[in-house]
Amino acid sequence: MTAKPTLAVVGATGAVGAVLLQILSQRADIWGEIRLIASPRSAGRKLAVRGAEVEVTALSEDAFAGVDVALFEVPDEVAAAWAPVAVARGAVVVDNSAAFRLDPDVPLVVPEVNAHTVRTRPRGIVANPHCTTLTMIVALGALHAEFGLRELVVSSYQAVSGAGRAGVAALRAQLSLVAGTELGTGPGDVRRAVGDDTGPFPEPVALNVVPWAGSLREDGWSSEEMTVRDETRKILGLPRLPVAVTCVRVPVVTTHSLTVHARFQGEVSVDGAREILATAPGVVLCDDPAAGEFPTPADVVGTDPTWVGRVRRALDDPAALELFVCGDNLRKGAALNTAQIAELIAAEPA
Ligand SMILES: NC(=O)c1ccc[n+]([C@@H]2O[C@H](COP(=O)([O-])OP(=O)(O)OC[C@H]3O[C@@H](n4cnc5c(N)ncnc54)[C@H](OP(=O)(O)O)[C@@H]3O)[C@@H](O)[C@H]2O)c1
Repeated sequence: MTAKPTLAVVGATGAVGAVLLQILSQRADIWGEIRLIASPRSAGRKLAVRGAEVEVTALSEDAFAGVDVALFEVPDEVAAAWAPVAVARGAVVVDNSAAFRLDPDVPLVVPEVNAHTVRTRPRGIVANPHCTTLTMIVALGALHAEFGLRELVVSSYQAVSGAGRAGVAALRAQLSLVAGTELGTGPGDVRRAVGDDTGPFPEPVALNVVPWAGSLREDGWSSEEMTVRDETRKILGLPRLPVAVTCVRVPVVTTHSLTVHARFQGEVSVDGAREILATAPGVVLCDDPAAGEFPTPADVVGTDPTWVGRVRRALDDPAALELFVCGDNLRKGAALNTAQIAELIAAEPA
């Protein structure tokens, strides 16, 4: 690619877009022009990136003229319609929506795990995994490389910003309605206080946990649960890996957490797993329960790595490990991984 490629950020005004602009300001400055694009609602707004104010332009075919790499941080249907337009205008697209993730002609890339797949992109599009998958996959990929993963059971504790600006706004509004009250002691009392408008969630998320994320799929599974299974299989190259997932929304603003039960080919040692996790790029081991040390979203938010704690061998299975992982869903879970993929593409020979 050229010495200083032109980058476009489509969806620059959103929850992920805002974090992406911060990340682009913090990482090595390899880009020439950075163009900011959003819906016509935002055209003319100015946003800060790399210390300068840049005007947002409305999404259009011409907005991609001269763009080398376009990062899409927009809803699925917008990405599905516009990513091929950007490719037709000569850009490589890195898409953070669900529109292309399972397309066999679109690589699903996590630089620490399967960077080599980025070069094979027949549609000119590279997909970024879902934030819940990304929260665990760097640590899991490192353990898989050593021990060979055979089965996975995970439960997520997902932050509201995983549902974008609307999710954060809903939690903040609900917290203001329940703060300082005795709510949460009788059936339905939180629901009555919050009212019918629960934002993008099916139940109040303040003072609550909601065992649902996404839309309904077959046999009672949610779309996000199916996504985590399908994406994990694709990224690790294990198309028949048995995976069971339960996705749960919790009243955390940003940073997803997961409990992970991972079964491997043979017996695993906790010391061996700790050594791998302590040295894996992009992973921080934070695991000393005797000293009260384990990762929590309140400490992890705003940081780049995947944090891993509570590493134990399964009580009844010497081939399985239990872990608790936390990762900022807007950074590694979205914007950071997108930026890392873009940097891989920019570094390709011209
Ligand atoms: N939040 C997360 O943790 C997370 C993690 C991984 C992946 N993702 C994915 O990343 C994408 C963005 O998510 P988000 O959470 O940042 O959403 P968001 O906060 O709702 O922001 C959506 C962005 O898309 C733009 N947009 C919407 N409709 C548009 C249109 N018709 N034309 C052009 N731009 C349009 C918005 O522009 P305006 O401001 O002008 O409306 C805004 O910049 C989604 O596909 C989401 O699933 C999110």
